[in-house]
Amino acid sequence: MNILIINASPKPSGSISQMLAAFAQAAAESGHTVETITTSRLSVRHCIGCMSCRTKGQCCLPPDDAQAVLEKIRWCQALVVGAPCYWGNMPGELKVLFDRMVYGLIGESRLGMPQPLHKGKAAYIISTSTTPFPFNILYRQTRGVVRALREILGYSGFRIKGKIERGGTKNRPLTPRDLDRCRKLARRI
Ligand SMILES: Cc1cc2nc3c(=O)[nH]c(=O)nc-3n(C[C@H](O)[C@H](O)[C@H](O)COP(=O)(O)O)c2cc1C
Repeated sequence: MNILIINASPKPSGSISQMLAAFAQAAAESGHTVETITTSRLSVRHCIGCMSCRTKGQCCLPPDDAQAVLEKIRWCQALVVGAPCYWGNMPGELKVLFDRMVYGLIGESRLGMPQPLHKGKAAYIISTSTTPFPFNILYRQTRGVVRALREILGYSGFRIKGKIERGGTKNRPLTPRDLDRCRKLARRI
């Protein structure tokens, strides 16, 4: 299976990067083809909101890395999104990327209803926050990331098959057990 991992943390040795690396290694060991994209290394312009992509099926802006990522999303059968919680949501770079890919994620019915273009594909979400458990869930910190990603991935047709929400990263750094959880999730694919 082709697996695309999107790393939305700008920290190469941060918690998300470590967790995604463990996931990628276990998935590759299980025989999957794994590619990782790091959003902080991409060059992606903001969506200008013209909505022309919804009728034309392509973005009106000059090509940049958003189109390349969309090709990779079309290529994959499973998508893994790793995102630290920024202000109770996904980091801005990731949101900008999804904004630019809307035409390749959902279509539109005659009545204007969204039509998923990635039906049948699996998605996995990994999120971290400094807010410790259970407040990362109760106060919608990592849960805010999951909610926002569910909105995008759900309408795009992905089924969320697993998620890991890890709170308290400031006072309680990652342990081998956290990385094991990521490996286990990858082996379930
Ligand atoms: C701009 C910014 C906003 C943040 N907002 C929140 C927040 O709303 N809630 C929270 O619990 N942690 C917040 N954090 C902390 C990160 O979620 C936390 O450090 C996370 O573990 C970082 O993951 P990483 O090391 O993989 O990048 C924020 C960090 C940054 C840089």
